[in-house]
Amino acid sequence: MATFPEYIAQNEERDGVRFSWNVWPSSRLEATRMVVPVAALFTPLKERTDLPPIQYEPVLCSRATCRAVLNPLCQVDYRAKLWACNFCYQRNQFPPSYAGISEVNQPAELLPLFSTIEYVVQRGPQMPLVFLYVVDTCMEDEDLQALKESLQMSLSLLPPTALVGLITFGRMVQVHELGCEGISKSYVFRGTKDLNAKQLQEMLGLTKPSAAQGRGPQAAPQQSFNRFLQPVQKIDMNLTDLLGSYHCAHWASPCPSPWVLLVFFYPQCTFPNTGARIMTFIGGPATQGPGMVVGDELKTPIRSWHDIEKDNAKFMKKATKHYESLANRASSNGHIIDIYACALDQTGLLEMKCCTNYTGGYMVMADSFNTSLFKQTFQRVFTKDVQGSFKMAFAATLEVKTSREIKVSGAIGPCVSLNAKGPCVSENEIGTGGTCQWKVCGLDPSTTLALYFEVVNQHNAPIPQGGRGAIQFVTQYQHSSGQRRIRVTTTARNWADAQTQIQSIAASFDQEAAAILMARLAVYRAETEEGPDVLRWLDRQLIRLVGEHTCRVSATIDLNRKRLIIVFNNSPDESSYYRHHFNRQDLTQALIMIQPVLYAYSFNGPPEPVLLDSSSILPDRILLMDTFFQILIYHGETVAQWRKAGYQDMPEYENFKHLLQAPVDDAQELLHTRFPMPRYIDTEHGGSQARFLLSKVNPSQTHNNMYTWGQESGAPILTDDVSLQVFMDHLKKLAVSSAA
Ligand SMILES: *[C@@H]1O[C@H](CO)[C@@H](O)[C@H](O)[C@H]1NC(C)=O
Ligand SMILES: *[C@@H]1O[C@H](CO)[C@@H](O)[C@H](O)[C@H]1NC(C)=O
Ligand SMILES: *[C@@H]1O[C@H](CO)[C@@H](O)[C@H](O)[C@H]1NC(C)=O
Ligand SMILES: [Zn+2]
Repeated sequence: MATFPEYIAQNEERDGVRFSWNVWPSSRLEATRMVVPVAALFTPLKERTDLPPIQYEPVLCSRATCRAVLNPLCQVDYRAKLWACNFCYQRNQFPPSYAGISEVNQPAELLPLFSTIEYVVQRGPQMPLVFLYVVDTCMEDEDLQALKESLQMSLSLLPPTALVGLITFGRMVQVHELGCEGISKSYVFRGTKDLNAKQLQEMLGLTKPSAAQGRGPQAAPQQSFNRFLQPVQKIDMNLTDLLGSYHCAHWASPCPSPWVLLVFFYPQCTFPNTGARIMTFIGGPATQGPGMVVGDELKTPIRSWHDIEKDNAKFMKKATKHYESLANRASSNGHIIDIYACALDQTGLLEMKCCTNYTGGYMVMADSFNTSLFKQTFQRVFTKDVQGSFKMAFAATLEVKTSREIKVSGAIGPCVSLNAKGPCVSENEIGTGGTCQWKVCGLDPSTTLALYFEVVNQHNAPIPQGGRGAIQFVTQYQHSSGQRRIRVTTTARNWADAQTQIQSIAASFDQEAAAILMARLAVYRAETEEGPDVLRWLDRQLIRLVGEHTCRVSATIDLNRKRLIIVFNNSPDESSYYRHHFNRQDLTQALIMIQPVLYAYSFNGPPEPVLLDSSSILPDRILLMDTFFQILIYHGETVAQWRKAGYQDMPEYENFKHLLQAPVDDAQELLHTRFPMPRYIDTEHGGSQARFLLSKVNPSQTHNNMYTWGQESGAPILTDDVSLQVFMDHLKKLAVSSAA
């Protein structure tokens, strides 16, 4: 039998699932003692090149409250042509098209190899792809110029049939009518609150689709709204012309919140329940309208954590509400909202974050549109797979089905509840709970949701029938080719009696998955509760976690506090940004965010991973640090001197030239694959940017200013720095100690 690490790796590879526990305690009582719940990190669209989609639709269990999909764990009676559902034990007849099946002629979905399988839905129309560009023109020339180039580039990457629309805003908001034989017409509005939906629709010549026009996805919109959404191939959209003359500067003219217009405009002109990406490009904070986050007196700075804590951020609540209503509307239509915010100061990501969170959109933050961070990241959105389809999926729903002994408590990730009740739904909510279905408007191959479960089997009940608990994930989505697809992943884990078989439960513990699952929970609390309470919650968890052990409680989760929970060293926008990415990335990326990776390059051998510790900084070493958001190369003192002296240019020191080049090549590789593109820093001993490295290897130096806000309201105790290893060791100990 494979070892647990091998087993875990295989399952992640095949099904995109990592469970905190890979053997489950068979009773509710024992499970609640575990502290780290049975939970999973699930990547619905994990890239699988060996998974050709099947050209028929899934067979469903006939029980109305179940509707689980036929899978390799079902018992099949080939002679009677019956299958037993492994979730509700219902016996089902195979459909007529399965008449020819036998032990030697099994459909793919019964083969263990296909525990994850993808079906193409045959019914229904091909869906168009819709891209709506919402562009702030209120920025400096250099930025606007660079942005235009990026937008033009993106148009060239769209399939010819994709529908495109454009809204710009600066002094005014403009809705552009595209494709009038080179002439572009636009409707101009003041983007302030005096707009009312009805007037606006009349002005744009938009009438509500009447009932007679039908409600199908192919109905009305094509007819009356095609003026604002045109296929790329039909328009001669020259953004250089379109965006040419409207620029202004933030100091010269406050810009309205474009969202006002969007709220009224876009539901009328896009297709309900059809994939649409609303891509917004923002060069500064909104200073007018209901979404405004800063006043238009130029001297008033945007809110800080201090203002928020003192209840002094006067636009925050109203703006947040405004963006929430927009986000809800977008998500109920299945539409994605992306935010590209490029400015030196904050732009209001804190207030706008629900737009990306509710819709699975991207959030990208950079100093300027003329940076490779923005340009490369934006280009990467349009990456294609080997079949030539975009690596983006639209209007997705995720449904979770569980066997009777376990229920789903909730999800944490870029999703909203679909309020689907059912026998699989636990009463104890964790994250977005009370449902077994979630909507995730935008998915890509790395989007990862955390799902939390509750074992409900009673203590005195025997180990459930078959000895295995099963969970099925059903992801329905619109593929970027226009097809509707259903991906089904069915997993099962053994039950074990925690009193007699604790060793096997302990051995099945996945510390990496558990660390990320607990950290997501902590971030979730940080979002929904306020700072100090979260710290107390973490302490409580840790006290439970560590129990009687002698280790230092507050030290164990310190790393989480520092990088994710503690916000005080970042601006509100930055915190929103980091949390956004932590909440959607897969396990490998999330681990890097919690615990940066450090590699050393020297003449003493090949590059090697070293401890994230100041002792790793040596004069004759080059270090490469990856914090997910930053890639930093640091030249030790001696190396820096040699570099300054130009040894790398002398033929006799060619090996030094290679030594300098090696980390640069490795950094390039990371810069070219990661989304969003990290910030690249090249520094050396004594360099001003070396502080980015020092703050990570010597966190004690930064503790003092990190906790300033916390100190005002009940100071957390500062402890020695600990590594992820320590945190994980404690989690591991818990696994064993819960037996005793
Ligand atoms: C963008 O930045 C590059 C390098 O910093 C500069 O050469 C270029 O002129 C800038 N683009 C614009 C439009 O100013
Ligand atoms: C757009 O128009 C400008 C001048 O009007 C021209 O210089 C530019 O090449 C055009 N760009 C494209 C992509 O057609
Ligand atoms: C995301 O949205 C959910 C509600 O759907 C909310 O509970 C959660 O706190 C949000 N997370 C972030 C990071 O904003
Ligand atoms: Zn069933």
